[in-house]
Amino acid sequence: MVMKKFIQNLPKAELHLHIEGTFEPALMFEIAQRNQIKIPFKSVKEVEEAYKFSCLQDFLDIYYQGAQVLIKEQDFYDLTYAYLKKCAAQNVRHTEIMFDPQTHTDRGISFETVITGISRACADAKSKLGVSSLLIMSFLRHLSEEQAFKTLEQSFAFRHLITAVGLDSSEKGNPPSKFVKVYKASVNMGYIPLAHAGEEGDASYVWEALNLLKIKRIDHGNNALQDPKLVQEIIKRDMALTVCPLSNTALKVVENLKDHPLKKMMDLGLKVTINSDDPAYFGGQINQNYVEIQKALSLTKDDLYLLAKNSFEYSLLARSEKEFFKAELELYYQSN
Ligand code: ADE
Ligand code: ZN
Repeated sequence: MVMKKFIQNLPKAELHLHIEGTFEPALMFEIAQRNQIKIPFKSVKEVEEAYKFSCLQDFLDIYYQGAQVLIKEQDFYDLTYAYLKKCAAQNVRHTEIMFDPQTHTDRGISFETVITGISRACADAKSKLGVSSLLIMSFLRHLSEEQAFKTLEQSFAFRHLITAVGLDSSEKGNPPSKFVKVYKASVNMGYIPLAHAGEEGDASYVWEALNLLKIKRIDHGNNALQDPKLVQEIIKRDMALTVCPLSNTALKVVENLKDHPLKKMMDLGLKVTINSDDPAYFGGQINQNYVEIQKALSLTKDDLYLLAKNSFEYSLLARSEKEFFKAELELYYQSN
């Protein structure tokens, strides 16, 4: 209980979050109804029954299906604002939100509709809830590099709303090397390069993400532990891993939370953060991830403080903003 309260009020940032993965069944039903779209579930209970996954692809199939009810700018606004309200309630002071434009543009929804709805919610959350946020445009790696280029072009007009690019979806068989040219073009446009790597793919995917895509932060990165040289390289480059404990057990990347490598990563000297990935699908928001991994690995308050500190330090914020949030965290830590 003491730890739970400490976690609840701990100032923190979320660095690995897919907005489409925050789609709670109740809101999905509401938006489906107002857009008159049929979904293959009759009740929230049926939805929850379907959310039992044996691997990443199992999850992705259902996740892309759920996103299909999002049609109008207001739908994207409502989805994003609902998540940002949860941030405020969990003392998430800053969040870096991934969105998958191709999941929507491939269905005939314009890039503008998607980004306008999401960014309007972010602006409102900043002024009304005091939650800071920025956006990461993620390319779907099961699609071609040419299609990623098309998305990059569509983003030109909204360049001012996007901070970074990411790479998500089915990892195995879609290595970072497939996207070298589009990452180069993205960096030339001023986007910061990030990517999922080493979630289901082996250490070679992480090497490629580092050396070919020149990423600044690794999403997941669990399988980097397969290669001690890679671990040393990540430490040398001072790169953080955005770890997602409940996602890892839901997708069977890790069998049991007690076997989760998070503490081992920290002990090796890796910079680790805790995140929720797709909270509506994996059984817990960010604070639940902190609570359950704390219990499973007997993390101390010092560990939790360090994880929260990493979340600000390895965010994409400007130095002055990082220091502002870290000072707030420091004050909390010293008095709790
Ligand atoms: N898209 C949403 N969540 C994802 C994950 N955990 N891995 C890859 N792609 C994703
Ligand atoms: Zn993810």
